[in-house]
Amino acid sequence: MGIALKKPDDEPGAAWPAIVIGLFVAFGGVLFGYDTGTISGILQMPVWQGLFAKGNVNAEGDPQVSSGDESLIVSILSLGTFLGALTAAPVADFFGRRLGLILSSAVVFNLGVILQTIATNQPPFIAGRFFAGYGVGLISAMIPLYQSETSPKWIRGTIVGAYQLAITIGLLLAAIVNNATQNRNDTGSYRIPVALQFVWSIVLCGGMLVLPETPRFHIKKGQNEKAAKALSKIRRLPIDHPGLVSELAEVRAAHNFEMSQKSSAGYADCFKGTIGKRLLTGCALQALQQLSGVNFIFYYGTSYFTRAGFQDPFIIQVITNTINVVSTFPGLYLVEKLGRRGLLLMGAIGMTVSQFIVAITGTAAGTTDLSAQRAAIAFVCIYIFFFASSWGPVAWVVTGELFPLKVRAKALSMTTATNWLLNFVIAFSTPYIVDEEHGNLQSRVFFIWGSCCALSIVFVWALIYETKGLTLEQVDELYGLVDKAWKSKEFRPALSFHEAQNEGGQGMSMRQMSIAQSERRASQAHAKDVSYAKEQP
Ligand code: BGC
Repeated sequence: MGIALKKPDDEPGAAWPAIVIGLFVAFGGVLFGYDTGTISGILQMPVWQGLFAKGNVNAEGDPQVSSGDESLIVSILSLGTFLGALTAAPVADFFGRRLGLILSSAVVFNLGVILQTIATNQPPFIAGRFFAGYGVGLISAMIPLYQSETSPKWIRGTIVGAYQLAITIGLLLAAIVNNATQNRNDTGSYRIPVALQFVWSIVLCGGMLVLPETPRFHIKKGQNEKAAKALSKIRRLPIDHPGLVSELAEVRAAHNFEMSQKSSAGYADCFKGTIGKRLLTGCALQALQQLSGVNFIFYYGTSYFTRAGFQDPFIIQVITNTINVVSTFPGLYLVEKLGRRGLLLMGAIGMTVSQFIVAITGTAAGTTDLSAQRAAIAFVCIYIFFFASSWGPVAWVVTGELFPLKVRAKALSMTTATNWLLNFVIAFSTPYIVDEEHGNLQSRVFFIWGSCCALSIVFVWALIYETKGLTLEQVDELYGLVDKAWKSKEFRPALSFHEAQNEGGQGMSMRQMSIAQSERRASQAHAKDVSYAKEQP
């Protein structure tokens, strides 16, 4: 195993166009990160508070949006993202992945941005947050879908992981832009950071206008010629190149096989058989990603840093966000070297240890022991390192490649919606669990995150299959033939759906097809040996 990521010799055509396409589409992650990151800064802006407080004032007599209104303004985005992620399936299956992305950003997301930019009172701002969130929810499920369906198998993890990198860059940008405009004494203080989002959506839409639709979407629709044209653009090969023809034939045959199984391609089928197991895996993976406590640190971590002597919230945001961006890079590499299972395991162990150390030092030290507080902060940063280099990107990578074509958009929309649902539940409930007046858990909340990370270790061991280096169709074969996740690393793809289809394998189970093919290959090899032996003098 060399150090560099290398294109396998048997893969026909060029890899760079698919890599460029996948990396470009990852840019949509900036919309995701920036949109979720910008509100906390806007809430601190005096001009915004003055306009949106509806006459409410704080103890000092300054305008202050009531906590009820503030919670609505913050959480309405999550409602939008959750619904948007669920709607991504019908949109991506009806309009296609490409047009779906264009409509989501150009129409839905931009409507949200327009409403927020023109707003000078709460109703349009709240409606704007909802629509922008809806757009982000749609995009957040469609990007990994588009990337998985276009990327070469040997670098798919890195490409989909780049989406997470863009999310982290979006979060960092939001912190920087808010800081730059917060002290303006006109509406530009919030309008500039909000309106800047047009730039992200124009870049994404502009690019999508020239990029191709995914060949797999065309196959799903039975548009074989369009599929060939799209793949020839991605691989830079003529439409009738044998490598291209056989790759498409395999995708088509695998899809036909899935469709020939008793089930159809409705929502009910997402819960049956190995697809049900995969859906459970994907939803649990996204839920545990959130339950690892990442957004507690990004949303509420300021007070921990303040106690350790960092008074400026901007410095805190820059520190945590920069670690988040930089640490994603090793993850992009390791996802193809250690594989999904190995990296998630390593990340879960690292996150568990760091969260428990934060919990223990934070709880034992109380608020007075500065050196213990600093030690806790150091481990918060180490936790971010482990998250960003493993569970951050890999949750998106794995959910993008888990499902068969016939239900991929539906299942992926449900795993993404689970991410947003947990994001909302945690953001909404943690103040109640942590605050003195309520649950008063304080630093002990890190025991909750630590325990969830410990659970993640068991989860990865029991349920995450190694999918590194497999085509999306071989992932179907993997789930069809290997019952236990911990045996998945030994799996070597051998089945040809195309061959099975030509041999009249319809109606067989995946296992029957695989046995029939290996028996036939063994007997062909044997016949060859016999005839060779006969030819010898
Ligand atoms: C998560 C977000 C989180 C971000 C942090 C994403 O993968 O889904 O909830 O804020 O990572 O980088």
